[in-house]
Amino acid sequence: MERQKIIAGNWKMHKTAHEAVEFIHKLAPTLTRTSAKVFLAAPFTTLQAAVSAAAGMHIWIGAQNMHDASEGAFTGEISARMLRDIGVHFVILGHSERRSLFHETNEWINRKVRRALAEDLVPLLCIGETLEQREEGKTEEVLCRQLEECLHAVSQEEMKRVIIAYEPVWAIGTGKAATAEIAEDTHKACRAFIAKKWGHELAHHTSLLYGGSVKPETSAALLSKPNIDGLLIGGAALDVATFSRIIEEKQ
Ligand code: PGA
Repeated sequence: MERQKIIAGNWKMHKTAHEAVEFIHKLAPTLTRTSAKVFLAAPFTTLQAAVSAAAGMHIWIGAQNMHDASEGAFTGEISARMLRDIGVHFVILGHSERRSLFHETNEWINRKVRRALAEDLVPLLCIGETLEQREEGKTEEVLCRQLEECLHAVSQEEMKRVIIAYEPVWAIGTGKAATAEIAEDTHKACRAFIAKKWGHELAHHTSLLYGGSVKPETSAALLSKPNIDGLLIGGAALDVATFSRIIEEKQ
């Protein structure tokens, strides 16, 4: 079975509920013309409106973070159960901005991944190396450690629901996307690690997305690579026309 392409937008801290609904309505015609799975990760305050606006459309609405506990005295936090309750399908975990700005560790991300799985949310786990790590030749080592630690104690059965996004830190929001060749080589190494840990069949079915400065001009080359199963898009997912061009693979 072929892996279906996934085009995921990450709005980060952008868009009000009204803007999110307007975006989804404008995106609707594009969704009828693509065989790709389309995901949108929206801010917490827009999720309910986005889920309602997306009803009946081929699109999954997701969150950008969650807490790892099931509930409790965690002022200002949101649980997986709360997300599931309003119809959220997936959650981005371990984004590099969460790691660097909010000090999330692999161990903490692992607890979140396992909580998401237990609550029937699809975890979209982000991994990526810094420029310094790449220049020191440590990319593979860093990524394998992130995979090992963030996916610790995740069973083969659970792994079927995990999606992974390779997002080199040096490419996020910088305009310097990895070339399709660099991304493909890195994805190949990640898939080999997954095969070693969970078996070849599971690795073959795992969706590996690339993220970091993806634009309509670069998306087709990235998607043409055999190990790149989709894209996680920040800046270029804020404008509906630009995001639609990527979904429709129009340069
Ligand atoms: P970017 O963000 O496309 O703006 O580089 C990607 C991401 O952070 O997921």
